[in-house]
Amino acid sequence: MLMPKKKLLREKSVKAIKKNTPKKIKAEKIKEAPLLLQTLRGMKDVLPQDQPYWEQVRRVSERLARDYGFLRLDVPIMEYANLFVRNIGEGTDIVEKEMYTFITRGGDKVALRPELTAGNCRSYIQHGMHTLSKPVKLFSTGPVYRYERPQDGRYREHHQVNFDAFGEQDPILDAQIIQVAYRLVQLLGIKSVQIQVNSIGCPVCRKNYRDLLVSYLESKKSKLCQDCKRRLTINPLRVLDCKEDKCSQIASIAPQSVDHLCDDCRSHFKILLEYLDELELPYSINPHLVRGLDYYTKTVFEVWSGEEAGKQGALFGGGRYDRLIKSMGGEDTPAIGFGMGVERIIVEMKRVQAKAYKPPRPRIFLAQLGILAKRKSLKLFTELEKNGILMAESFGRGSLKSQLKIANRLGAEITLILGQKEALDGTVIIKNMATGAQETVDMEKLVDIIKKKLKTDNVVIYHNGECDHS
Ligand code: HAM
Repeated sequence: MLMPKKKLLREKSVKAIKKNTPKKIKAEKIKEAPLLLQTLRGMKDVLPQDQPYWEQVRRVSERLARDYGFLRLDVPIMEYANLFVRNIGEGTDIVEKEMYTFITRGGDKVALRPELTAGNCRSYIQHGMHTLSKPVKLFSTGPVYRYERPQDGRYREHHQVNFDAFGEQDPILDAQIIQVAYRLVQLLGIKSVQIQVNSIGCPVCRKNYRDLLVSYLESKKSKLCQDCKRRLTINPLRVLDCKEDKCSQIASIAPQSVDHLCDDCRSHFKILLEYLDELELPYSINPHLVRGLDYYTKTVFEVWSGEEAGKQGALFGGGRYDRLIKSMGGEDTPAIGFGMGVERIIVEMKRVQAKAYKPPRPRIFLAQLGILAKRKSLKLFTELEKNGILMAESFGRGSLKSQLKIANRLGAEITLILGQKEALDGTVIIKNMATGAQETVDMEKLVDIIKKKLKTDNVVIYHNGECDHS
């Protein structure tokens, strides 16, 4: 039987890709390599002691998403590689140097996402979100991968929190997105930040500006760094935010995009600045801010620590990307959003001694003594947990003395003691840790008695998984 043409073509291209793929590394060879018990370069474990900061970031961003009407979207961390290459831009550092790209066993060329925007837009189109009422506000968060040279504030795996709004071109959305970014840092306890804004125009006015910039930069070409010499032809705007001293000197007197905006872009930017004034946000115009991704139009912005000591890189970056969805094949859909770097924000939170999340402290400890009691204690713990009572235990310990020591160390106010006798009688001892007073109660009634005590003694109680300091 003849193979359908489409299938034949696909098999041919898979064969071609496989032929061009470096030889597969045999499992045996991988096994032989010494076992390095360390994370990959530029990647970090988030250890339990750091989790309260991560939890604080999660809680604050989820709260803001809810309060400002953003719906959560999660997209896979892996996508077809050309989604990023085409949409972030071929001349960008991310696409040129930093993508983790590989070919799957099935022959698909895929990449670990170097950012969230392209995947979010793919999802917006794929799932017909244009039919939702506008603006469609989406909140997304998760890991992102960039093969960068690791240094302070620059990792190969980092995490972002993104807020994006689709379908509205009114500058009020630009202002609201910047306001959300500002609220986020405020709620995370970072008081001093600086918001930098710029407008890089639309493709129409940017073309004229680009020509002007290129002719200026050509006249200084010999003084530019090697990277910028290359950027001059593929992505001249990127020369403006080069960190090399000699390039930033040249950039400082280069023509500025804000002086060459078309009427529409100029008015958009002017109105945005009026909103930012109205909101009294600490912003300044940075004419050299161009951002490292090609899809931006009009507004671009970054949030930086307001103090010199905290300058590990921008905390947030974002802007408008009015052409992206259409260029991917979707409806004409203006959009704006930002990404916040979680690792950087946590470094800043620690630097300014911002509050981390404090988990509720169990005020009850369950101690057991003897084989039968030990067996019953597991069930009793679950019974109380089902009723929303937060407890601590140390089931591995046998001696009551050592368990009471732990209860004291944890600051438990009540210890429930289940000994051999109590296990047989179906009772439990309630010990007040402050006074030492003890009472024996019926196990059946324990939940009610504890609940009453928790209310009167102002102990933490859970309702539907949410903790509440009643
Ligand atoms: P981005 O500026 O490339 O923008 O990244 C956003 C934030 O992620 C940065 O401001 C920074 O805090 C953090 N970040 C970036 N690279 C690293 C790294 N190597 N290590 C640690 N943190 C890093 C974007 O990705 C856009 N897609 C944001 C966006 C959303 N624009 C519109 N919507």
